[in-house]
Amino acid sequence: MSATSRPARFDIDADLVARCIDEMAQYGAHPVSGMQRLVYTPAWRESVAHYVRWLEHEGLHVRQDAVGNVFGVAPGREPGPSIVTGSHIDTALRGGKYDGTLGVIAGYVALRTLLRTVGQPRRTLEALAICDEEASRFHSNFWGSRAIAGFIQPGEAETICDAEGVSLADAMRSCDLDPSRIAAARRDDIDTFIELHIEQGPILEQKRIPVGVVEAITAIEQVECTVQGRADHAGGCPMDARRDPMIAVAQMVLEVTRLANELGPPAVATVGRIVAEPGSPNIVAAEVRFTIDARYPDAGKHAQLMAHIGEACRVIAAVRGLGFQMDRLTFQPPTVSSPDLVRVIGEAAGDLGLPHLTMVSGAGHDTQVLARRGVRRAMIFVPSRAGRSHSPDEFTAIEDIVEGIAVLTEALYRLAY
Ligand code: HGY
Ligand code: MN
Ligand code: MN
Repeated sequence: MSATSRPARFDIDADLVARCIDEMAQYGAHPVSGMQRLVYTPAWRESVAHYVRWLEHEGLHVRQDAVGNVFGVAPGREPGPSIVTGSHIDTALRGGKYDGTLGVIAGYVALRTLLRTVGQPRRTLEALAICDEEASRFHSNFWGSRAIAGFIQPGEAETICDAEGVSLADAMRSCDLDPSRIAAARRDDIDTFIELHIEQGPILEQKRIPVGVVEAITAIEQVECTVQGRADHAGGCPMDARRDPMIAVAQMVLEVTRLANELGPPAVATVGRIVAEPGSPNIVAAEVRFTIDARYPDAGKHAQLMAHIGEACRVIAAVRGLGFQMDRLTFQPPTVSSPDLVRVIGEAAGDLGLPHLTMVSGAGHDTQVLARRGVRRAMIFVPSRAGRSHSPDEFTAIEDIVEGIAVLTEALYRLAY
């Protein structure tokens, strides 16, 4: 079939999409609730194998790179760099069925629809499942996309360990992946990346708009703060003789929140983890560590927020005679989407009769890592019910998903055929 004999609109099979979501949800259902598919675990491995079966069934050339990212390649008639679509296949801790996974499914369904309807593309198209974005198991933030972009430091896999003390390198080996080959995962032949994702916020639902086109992704910074005090007996040591870091941490948490509120939306700041040492009910803590995740889409204002947070915490610690240290865990600068791609996606939505909203992402995405390598990029958002995400309550209606995939498919057609 020639590329010109396209249908008026590509027909996205809603039953297929629903089946794909159910099939992927078989891998990593958490015994209490939600999905927990952590990189290099048996559930992860099975989900990747399942994805490979989908790709092979469509006749795509499947390759797995050194860290376990999987590409399904539809070679173009013309030589040249690839147009890639996908997202991450790992999940948040007790997360939902949609974050990341939906973009993996969308890429597969879009390529399948195009290949079955209009045949071989002019430009090479690839569907992609990124091995790990969430860093739910290791402090490995954006591990899969950093491998593709060539941003993994030598020795990183050997030094990062999970909660059980297993190194990332050993976890890779358990999945027959060779950590000494990580550098080989780098791709310099990806020209364009489109990631479909759930919004993970309430805006599309509130405005009753089915499709979001992401024009920018927020800056994300995560730090770990350590507040050092002195261990004492919880009964014998009077209140006024203590150097208790927990009290300071309580104040710091409130201050972090106050400062984000003071800057105003879309500033957000979250303390998601607090660990006390030695962590016993009858001991005044010797040390408390906690994380701060702070985000703002403008680099200058983001830096200002972080500076104010650091200053406030230092003052609180000093007043109480406590030690204080703040270590950066990760920083992703804000990312602007490629305007021409935002236009292509917006026009695709418009021609399909779908209202769309150009918007900013408050969540981090692999797209921003590939952007740092100069890859042309943009994202498509579909609504999240009640804005819920990183929770078992994540949900997007099949009709909304199908519309998002229709926009992705149409955009890929315009770019690759
Ligand atoms: O944290 C994030 O924004 C991403 O979902 N990992
Ligand atoms: Mn996530
Ligand atoms: Mn995600």
